[in-house]
Amino acid sequence: MQSWFLRTCVLAVATTTLAVGAVAQIRLFNTVTGEPLDMSMAMEEGRDTPAVKSFMETGVNAYNENPEALGKGEEIFLTACSGCHGHLGEGKIGPGLNDDYWTYPGNATDEGLFRTIYGGAEGQMGPQYGNLTLDEMLHVMAWVRHIYTGDPATATWFTPEQRAAFKPFPKTHPDPNG
Ligand code: HEC
Repeated sequence: MQSWFLRTCVLAVATTTLAVGAVAQIRLFNTVTGEPLDMSMAMEEGRDTPAVKSFMETGVNAYNENPEALGKGEEIFLTACSGCHGHLGEGKIGPGLNDDYWTYPGNATDEGLFRTIYGGAEGQMGPQYGNLTLDEMLHVMAWVRHIYTGDPATATWFTPEQRAAFKPFPKTHPDPNG
């Protein structure tokens, strides 16, 4: 009886380790403090989309340059970010997001950009986990990459294929009423 109990326990522990070990998760830290991000603060909704799952495993944003995702990313940007960062990410009370200069160099990677959006930075740049789902954060990140106006060669966040195909976003809006 006792040994049966013991064996079940060993099996249970082994199975749990396997289940957790099977999918390696990236480790995310606060952009400013370096403290581990508390991912349990994320909204329930939008936690387990394929893009969120693959991001949490690889740190790569599957929505970058995905035409369907960009429309939604733009909407989110115009609701949640442009008031401080400008409609084209040109900078306002928050810094410009459409060039290759980053106060926090980590933002040149998708992992870093996610960390800043999820966990916030200094001052007015509060954590966004209460405003946006994880899936929405990936959408808005793709839009931030899309409005880049600089040299594609320095857009290190893109894959080589994305960089080769990338056309910098116009610095002025094509539609003056838009
Ligand atoms: C209430 C104003 C405000 C809102 C809303 C806001 N930000 Fe910010 N953001 C700031 C400020 C101010 C900073 C500078 C903070 C710092 O330097 O620590 C900043 C910094 C950043 C940075 C770091 C830039 C760098 O150069 O490293 C990123 C990335 C960023 N914001 C993205 C976003 C995104 C995406 C959204 C929308 C989801 C957003 N912010 C919403 C004010 C805002």
